Formats: sequence, C-alpha cells, structure tokens
Amino acid sequence: MSTITLALVGAGERGQNCYAPHVLRNGQGMHFTAVAEPDEHRRNEFVAHYGVPSQNVFKTADELFAAPRIADAVLICTQDKQHYEHARAAILKGYTVLLEKPISPSPQECISLQKLATKHGVTIVVCHVLRYTNIFKTIKKLLDDGAIGDIVSIVHTENIGYWHYAHSYVRGNWKSSADSSPMILAKCCHDLDILSWLIGSRCKSVSSFGDLRYFTKDNAPEGAPSRCLEGCPKSSTCPYYAPKMYMTGAKDWPASCLGPDLSEEGRRRALMEGPYGKCVFSGENDVVDHQVASLLFENGVSVSFTASAFSNACERTMKIMGTTGEINVSTANNQVTLTEFGPGMRTGNTNTIKIVKSPYGHNGGDEGIMENFAGVIRGFVPNENLFEQSVHSHIIAFAAEEARLTGEVVNLSEFEKTILAD
Ligand SMILES: NC(=O)c1ccc[n+]([C@@H]2O[C@H](COP(=O)([O-])OP(=O)(O)OC[C@H]3O[C@@H](n4cnc5c(N)ncnc54)[C@H](O)[C@@H]3O)[C@@H](O)[C@H]2O)c1
Repeated sequence: MSTITLALVGAGERGQNCYAPHVLRNGQGMHFTAVAEPDEHRRNEFVAHYGVPSQNVFKTADELFAAPRIADAVLICTQDKQHYEHARAAILKGYTVLLEKPISPSPQECISLQKLATKHGVTIVVCHVLRYTNIFKTIKKLLDDGAIGDIVSIVHTENIGYWHYAHSYVRGNWKSSADSSPMILAKCCHDLDILSWLIGSRCKSVSSFGDLRYFTKDNAPEGAPSRCLEGCPKSSTCPYYAPKMYMTGAKDWPASCLGPDLSEEGRRRALMEGPYGKCVFSGENDVVDHQVASLLFENGVSVSFTASAFSNACERTMKIMGTTGEINVSTANNQVTLTEFGPGMRTGNTNTIKIVKSPYGHNGGDEGIMENFAGVIRGFVPNENLFEQSVHSHIIAFAAEEARLTGEVVNLSEFEKTILAD
C-alpha cells in the first residue's frame, strides 16, 4: 500500500483527539509529516505522538502554507472563522483537504471556496461525520433500495442535551453568533447535510422560528455569583453547576477543553479563570437554545426539523415516511426500525435493526471519515461527500437563519442570488 502523507492544521480537540488517533490505530498507510499549532503544549504533544520531523513543525497555518507543499493532504481543524483562509491557502498549494465544518460562517466565503476548488481541481471533504456512521449508512441503503417506496416527509429532531448545550453554546466556543456562527450552522449543518443526502435533492424553501429562551440573565437564580465556585446558593440543585461537569476525574471531552492541567488544582483554576466555570445565566451568550425549521425540497419532500438544548440525551431521532412504509431512528438506542405497510389496516411488517455501537467519536463517524478519506486520496473509493453538497447544506442553514430573523419564508434560489450579489 502506498504511503499517504498528512499535515494537520490545528492540533486541538478535533484534529488531535478525534481524527489523528485513527492514523495510529489503523493508519492505512497514512502518516503525519507536518503540523501547525500555536499552542505549545498541544504542538509538542502532537509531535511526540506522531513523530513529525522538526523542520515541518510550525506555529501557524500561515507558516505551513508558506512552505512548499509537504504532504499529500491537509486536515484543517482550526476554528470556524479561520477555515476560509486556511482552506484557500491549501487549495492554492494543491493539497487534498479534509475540512472541519462549518466551511465558513459566511455564505459568500463558502461559495467562493467552492469556485476556487473547482477551478484548481482540488478535492475538499467536509467533516460531515454522521454520513460515515453505521446507523446513517444503514438508513441510506434502505432508502436507496426502496424499502419505504418514495420518501414523502421527515420529522427530524436534534436533541442537543442540556449539558452539551451548556458546554458548547453557553460557555464554550460557539456561544456567540458573531464570534463563531449561528447555532443552526454550527450544530445543525450536520442535520441539514444528512437530510439533503438521504432525500437526494436540493432544498427549495425554508421557514424557521426560535430564540434564546432560557440561558439569559433574567433566569439567573437570586444571589447567583458570576462563577459556580464563588459560593452559588444553587450548587446542589443546578444541572449546570460546573464542578459536577468538570471536576469528575474524567480526562476526555468535555473535561479536556479545560486545558492541559487536569489535576484537581488545575481544574479548579480553570473553573475560576476560564469560560467553563461561569454561571450559565451570566448573559454572555446569544445563540438560540431552540429552533425549528420547515423545509421543502425540490423533489417535493417536506421536513419538520427541531433542534433543542432541552433534552437529557444527546441524540437524533428521525421518522422517515415513505409511500410504502416508514423508518424510525433513534441514535441513542442505535436502532433503526423499518415498517413496510401491509395489505388492509395496521398490518405493517416491522423489523428492528440493531446497529453495532462504535467505540470511536460520533459513533464511529470520526473513524469512518478518516478511513474513507484515505480511500478517496488513493482513488480507491469515489468521494460521495461532494463539496458542492456541503456548500448547499450550509446555504440551507444560512437561509434558515435568515427566515428565523425575518419571519419570512426564504426561497433558496432567490437567497443564493442575493448572496452572490453581495
Ligand atoms: N465535525 C464535527 O462533528 C465537529 C465537532 C466539534 C467541532 N467541530 C469543528 O471543529 C473545529 C475545531 O474545533 P475544536 O473543538 O477542535 O477547537 P479547538 O479550539 O480545540 O482546536 C482548534 C485548534 O486550532 C489552533 N489554532 C488557532 N489558530 C491557529 C493557526 N493560525 N494555525 C494553526 N492552528 C491554529 C488552536 O490553538 C487549537 O488548538 C471547529 O471549527 C468546530 O466547529 C466539528
């Protein structure tokens, strides 16, 4: 098997902890020959694990891209607003690109990257990791095999999980729409991608409602200090009391976001000084905590989509209704239930498919995308996760946000024209 050389831009939570370990576990001939990471601890840790030669260790993406091309492909795992510049530089250098989602918080930048990648014949695979999970691959196959006839409508719910929402969208990197992106893009571009992929059509129009209902100053308990550890009177009952989430001894995500020092003292310091110890009602966040969208696809399929912080489990549930049957999905139970309508009333034949749980991130999606990426680079497998499809699912997210803010139904073709005119 030929060797594939990789460069990593951004050795953070995703790059270092989710994708890179695949190379050590089951490298498929892949190995890292370069890294760019400004955080010294993360950079050194990565170099030690992956044996990157010192001449290819950079502090920033700019330095890495200023050098002649040093790998076959690059993994871009920096923060949302950096993706555009980093992907642009990668395209111009001719790297095959694995790009973290979102492509960019700007619709213009998404389209501009699509044009540039097409012009230079560069493959960009966006990390829509759900596509690579056994559960969604099973659903896709059932649909493609016509198990429920033609899809007519879908009810899809993204149950974010109250603690996951608090970690990422109240205290964490995606709490501010202006600093990162609206929640429907940051979190739900995965759902919009999966829906478009399963439906096999482009979206025609969208309406949407939602706001920030609960995680606001108005809902702060009386006497709540700005940080949980400053003597909060609700410490024993508040579901968001930071020490209960982060002082557990666990070292993996979300505790790993506290920083490199995960000793008790280090965690305490992080909660007293960093973002993850702040009261969830301190009012520094502005992204929605619940949003619904109605989508109509060009092939006539209608979708009712809900994303909400207010759930116990972090899971997606889905009901796909077709002309000859229905599919019900629970990602928490790792279960797909197929019912084919029978003759006469209520005689449907139901078959429950249990999906084997993966030990890896996103129920195997993080592993699956890396495996597939190796095949795409070698030309062994077709790239079915096309960049233009990712751009389209992002445009749906931007259109949904426009619909939410204006209260109007947004026609996607018209919306795209206004983006291109800007
Ligand atoms: N696909 C998914 O399911 C999924 C899940 C979570 C997050 N994400 C996305 O992954 C991306 C990274 O998220 P994360 O949680 O790993 O964040 P992170 O902050 O842990 O990692 C980003 C890393 O980039 C580094 N960096 C900053 N500036 C840089 C530069 N100029 N050059 C090189 N490196 C630089 C940072 O120091 C940091 O280590 C985000 O865009 C996020 O939205 C995707």
